[in-house]
Amino acid sequence: MANSSDIVWHDPSVQRAAREARLGQRGAVVWFTGLSGCGKSTVANQLDQLLNGLGCTTILLDGDNLRHGLCAPPDRLVKDHGEEFASRFGLGFAEIDREENIRRVGEVSSLFCSAGLITLTAFVSPYRRDRDRVRAVVEGNGQAGDFIEVFMDTPLEVCEKRDPKGLYKKARAGEIKHFTGISDPYESPESPEIHLDGGADASPEELAEQVIESLRERGVIRMGKTG
Ligand code: ADX
Repeated sequence: MANSSDIVWHDPSVQRAAREARLGQRGAVVWFTGLSGCGKSTVANQLDQLLNGLGCTTILLDGDNLRHGLCAPPDRLVKDHGEEFASRFGLGFAEIDREENIRRVGEVSSLFCSAGLITLTAFVSPYRRDRDRVRAVVEGNGQAGDFIEVFMDTPLEVCEKRDPKGLYKKARAGEIKHFTGISDPYESPESPEIHLDGGADASPEELAEQVIESLRERGVIRMGKTG
């Protein structure tokens, strides 16, 4: 058994502030949460484009994409790693799997934030406790204000009507277990830093612009970045 007291922190020699000064921005985690099909990936991608156009250095971590690698399901791992490994480390959508998914992604986001990157994430992240833990990790490693929660607030009826991947249809037919909004809960953020109305007529670009404005107010994007 590894003992955590035998693992000693090694202070980095290049500090976060030096990295941020070179990049001309403040590191942050911009955490999109919302139902499947709510538009969080679309708006996060739009935001990523706008930020890059302004000369910002970013990274985008997307739920569906990370589940192809770092947070892969068991059946993706079995060929290379075997059954025991796949069942221990592969992730599905039960509450405890989502807890580990969000923990891994939270830790990775915190590392990118420490590197001075504007880190955009798009995960359903349905449990308030999991999101609050990420906030605590990110701000514990950095400072208050590093974690910016963006609630992509799109009514379930709208997401289900869009059903871009046909998953709601499958979930209603009982073919997917633990589907958020259908057979599993979604816990809305109580006081997100940014609240986007995904059910209204605003385009993804307009919603991304709302986030840009808030990032400017928060000093994440510095004054000189005008595109
Ligand atoms: S999270 O809940 O653990 O944060 P994550 O964002 O990584 O979820 O992955 C969600 C994506 O996986 C959805 O956009 C959807 O395409 C797909 N998916 C497959 N099964 C489910 C499920 N049971 N619940 C929610 N999303 C699912």
